[in-house]
Amino acid sequence: MRLLAVETSCDETSLAVMEDGQIASLRVASQAALHQPTGGVVPEVAARRHLEVIRVEAEAALAEAGSALSELDGIAYTRGPGLVGSLLVGSSFAQALALAQRLPAVAVNHVLAHIHAVFIGQEPRFPLVALVVSGGHTSLFRLEAPLQIELLGETRDDAAGEALDKVARLLGLGYPGGAALERLAEQVPGPGVTLPRVRLEGERPDFSFSGLKTAARQAILSGEEPARVAKGFQEAVIAHLVETTRRALVPSDRMLVVGGGVAANRALGRALAEALPGLPVHVAPPALSGDNAAMIGRLGWEMLRAGITTPLGLPVLSQWAALT
Ligand code: KG4
Ligand code: ZN
Repeated sequence: MRLLAVETSCDETSLAVMEDGQIASLRVASQAALHQPTGGVVPEVAARRHLEVIRVEAEAALAEAGSALSELDGIAYTRGPGLVGSLLVGSSFAQALALAQRLPAVAVNHVLAHIHAVFIGQEPRFPLVALVVSGGHTSLFRLEAPLQIELLGETRDDAAGEALDKVARLLGLGYPGGAALERLAEQVPGPGVTLPRVRLEGERPDFSFSGLKTAARQAILSGEEPARVAKGFQEAVIAHLVETTRRALVPSDRMLVVGGGVAANRALGRALAEALPGLPVHVAPPALSGDNAAMIGRLGWEMLRAGITTPLGLPVLSQWAALT
């Protein structure tokens, strides 16, 4: 089955051609430079840029895959969650193309697609636990099958990437700052500043990062060395992610998969593998951890194979908690 996949939930215009769930071509046009001066994504600006580049990117993805439009079997696109204006560009494009080509369309949940990004290179073994850690989301799921998904816990305030970006900004590292903060932290041979460990009430494996962010801000204001703040903050974020993930796991789980932009953080992958000996830990490769259309095409392929299609005209959703 050959699919064109479209991802425009935030500030990457990404198009992919997927052949039976594997990548035939993948284009990611990042808007990072466009949003750098404002230190964050301006939704209106993001939507306009998506519209400017989406057709050219689609043609390039098809050309790189050596595929004609007439050879497609369907179109997968991101329905949400994300920025509404950005989502509308991708969904309108995908639905118009599906209508014109008489192809089935399938609307995909972006957060769940971050999990399926891992399955492009690594066959899943169920049941498994998935940690999605990105700029917009920090959530734990259990999957009994590709489309049988249960939410275990999620952040009660900021997403991990959002907190990393905010602290990176306070440190003058630009936007988005997660990767720059990791590089700065790597320059410190010893320990970073000590920040309080996060403790949450309740059984659910939920996350909270806003307290840590405030503690990091105070450390910066009190004149701590920036690199030591970066290291201490990253360590505290990772400790909270690792500890909460450990709490979510049960003995029958056969693997842990990690997706989302923050999965590119090498210290996180190392810490999870060290804390969970005996459990296979599979982190999305760097090219597939951030926002990309291949993950949308991968989950869309699972959905189409299961007979799920989307009627044209379905609205996009800024928040979308549905589990398939
Ligand atoms: O998944 P993603 O591309 O977009 C969302 O769906 O949110 O994630 C973007 C997030 C940003 O917060 C960015 O700072 C973070 O991923 N990120 C990192 C690293 N690379 C990207 N965070 C920590 N370490 C990294 N190496
Ligand atoms: Zn994402």
